[in-house]
Amino acid sequence: MRMYDIIMKKRNGGELSKEEIHFFIEGYTRGEIPDYQVSALMMAIYFQKMTEKETYELTMAMAHSGEMLDLSGIHGCKVDKHSTGGVGDKTSLALTPMVAACGIPVAKMSGRGLGHTGGTIDKLESFPGFSTSLTTEQFIENVNRIGIAIMGQTADLAPADKKLYALRDVTATVDNMSLIASSIMSKKLAAGADAIVLDVKTGSGAFMKSREDAFALAEEMVKIGKNAGRKTIAVISDMDQPLGRAVGNALEVKEAIVTLRGEGPEDFKELCMVLGSRMLLAGSKAESVEEARNMLTNVIRDGSALRKLEQFVEAQGGDPAAVTDPELLPKASMVVPVCADRDGFVEKIACEDIGICSLLLGGGRETKESEIDLSVGILLEKKKGDAVKKGEVLGYLHANDEKRLEAAKEKFRSAYFITDYQPEAEPLIKGILQ
Ligand code: URA
Repeated sequence: MRMYDIIMKKRNGGELSKEEIHFFIEGYTRGEIPDYQVSALMMAIYFQKMTEKETYELTMAMAHSGEMLDLSGIHGCKVDKHSTGGVGDKTSLALTPMVAACGIPVAKMSGRGLGHTGGTIDKLESFPGFSTSLTTEQFIENVNRIGIAIMGQTADLAPADKKLYALRDVTATVDNMSLIASSIMSKKLAAGADAIVLDVKTGSGAFMKSREDAFALAEEMVKIGKNAGRKTIAVISDMDQPLGRAVGNALEVKEAIVTLRGEGPEDFKELCMVLGSRMLLAGSKAESVEEARNMLTNVIRDGSALRKLEQFVEAQGGDPAAVTDPELLPKASMVVPVCADRDGFVEKIACEDIGICSLLLGGGRETKESEIDLSVGILLEKKKGDAVKKGEVLGYLHANDEKRLEAAKEKFRSAYFITDYQPEAEPLIKGILQ
């Protein structure tokens, strides 16, 4: 079998066989197939798409490209959560301590930033000293001891996805349904949880911009999960504007902490409630959504979710003092307002552009080797539907570099659309599939 023939077959719209998919995944994982050939194949898949059968085979080949974690050493029903990626999506940072405080063991594998979206691993590294490179034994031990552990993809866990994820990030091949479904589900299956709650984003800041595509992606992932014997639920949620107000690694960590104190933005709190209640139901900790929501409200009110975050940060080598005093998190040297140039209402926010604005400030990667600046980002003062006056602040850019700041300002300004009429509010949750 030759990689050249596989690329050509897909380029011409053919359906790859199970053997061909395994050949390229195994060869790439072993380092025998170079990045440039796999980039070409990713682009061919991007344009020609994959059938449901190919997507399933790709998922299984990627899941089995390394170790399949055995979490039977963790007591109770393990529930994992994964987002398809968004702007300002810091949900895992607040949600996982909330459900862990309710007694659900959280054994989660997360990723780094991808395209214009941020990643949980990068965000967690804002805690000075924090490490997501855990051995399987440490991972299991931490979940049993404190109820929560989050690790990055090790060299052994779905290594094919780890390599493809980094390659897709810099070759404009992220937003394809089969590539997203196989990337997420291969990790989730390899990471061994009993139940999986998926947050599928839709809107201008999501990889799946249209509602139809988001529902199709959700359906595809739920089907893959069920075929693999895992309880799988997908929540389809809005990403037509950034979630909450903070975009950028340390700024998002700060917002998650504030939310665990009960003071966060409403949309972000509500999403944590919806996903958290599904996780409690999937893990049989609650019998109804109402009961689950009450449990989640209580762990915020009595401070146990915030304490869980502290324990989690400490257990993974981070400075727990930064949970009590977020001023200890990385801080940018410049905070610059961007103001409205007319009166009116915020009609829409080009959400992907806000993500790109954070990248321009240095918060994301340009190449696989790029170092990111954890301190930079954006704090939105105005969101969709808000009234604005000429000269009022739309948002603050947190920056460390004048040149980057200028490019980001341009992007930020052009992302805001202000009109005379207040637009209708969009629902945060578009649907739930199970
Ligand atoms: N999250 C992932 O893990 N993979 C993707 O391809 C997109 C979002």
